[in-house]
Amino acid sequence: MTDYKIIDDSTLLLGDCLERIKEIRDGSIDVSFTSPPYNRKRNDKYENYNDNIEDYFGFLVSIIDELLRVTKGYVFFNIQKNYYNKEDVFRLFGHYAENITEVFIWEKSNPLPAAGNGITNAYEFVIVFGSGIRSNKTYTKNHLTTSVAKMYKNHKAIMHPDVANFFIKNFTNEGDIILDPFMGSGTTGVACKILNRSFIGIEIDPEYFEFACKRVSDSGKQGDLFHTSSKQTDQKVFVCD
Ligand SMILES: C[S@@+](CC[C@H](N)C(=O)[O-])C[C@H]1O[C@@H](n2cnc3c(N)ncnc32)[C@H](O)[C@@H]1O
Repeated sequence: MTDYKIIDDSTLLLGDCLERIKEIRDGSIDVSFTSPPYNRKRNDKYENYNDNIEDYFGFLVSIIDELLRVTKGYVFFNIQKNYYNKEDVFRLFGHYAENITEVFIWEKSNPLPAAGNGITNAYEFVIVFGSGIRSNKTYTKNHLTTSVAKMYKNHKAIMHPDVANFFIKNFTNEGDIILDPFMGSGTTGVACKILNRSFIGIEIDPEYFEFACKRVSDSGKQGDLFHTSSKQTDQKVFVCD
């Protein structure tokens, strides 16, 4: 298996994003949009990836700092607090208080109910790093609602496609280069392909990587009909030896 695949204007990289992102030049990405593993300390969502990182806060800071290095515009960072990660998630707001320009609430219309009288976790954050956020249209709220995404047999921690579409459509432009370092099943890549954005995705799990390649390859076929000149990602983005 190769450690990357190029599909039209998408470049999909296999490996640890903390390593592979070093191949990306400073300020060469227009917008980053991602959803890291949530450190649920159990593997009900992943087949191979072990969702249990001892220093989760350190892990988040390492990747956010790298995203801020490579990204010119906004970094959209989707994360859900849970019993295990909530101190780390709340610490992010203080640690990056000067970098955070907005926080979106992504509400789930049909979340799994909590046990007994516990509080049902019905929303996730999308933290936006950058400054002076502006949408492509008027009256864009910092709140959106979708149902819970349909899970694929191959990947259960999937984002609803409407969430990726909302952010890519409203906060990027045709031909922009979008990075998702935790690509998973490739939802961000599919949105980029349909909306004529260039995409770079990184995924550590070889099976998810292959699945994402297939989804990106199968998507956006109609979009290709009116494809405009998008930026050549290779030379602008990647550090060449
Ligand atoms: C929450 S899921 C992303 C789901 C994605 N948004 C989708 O809709 O399919 C997080 C993904 O990050 C991957 N991952 C975890 N650690 C990684 C790392 N260090 N580098 C690259 N990918 C990683 C996991 O295998 C998992 O597929």
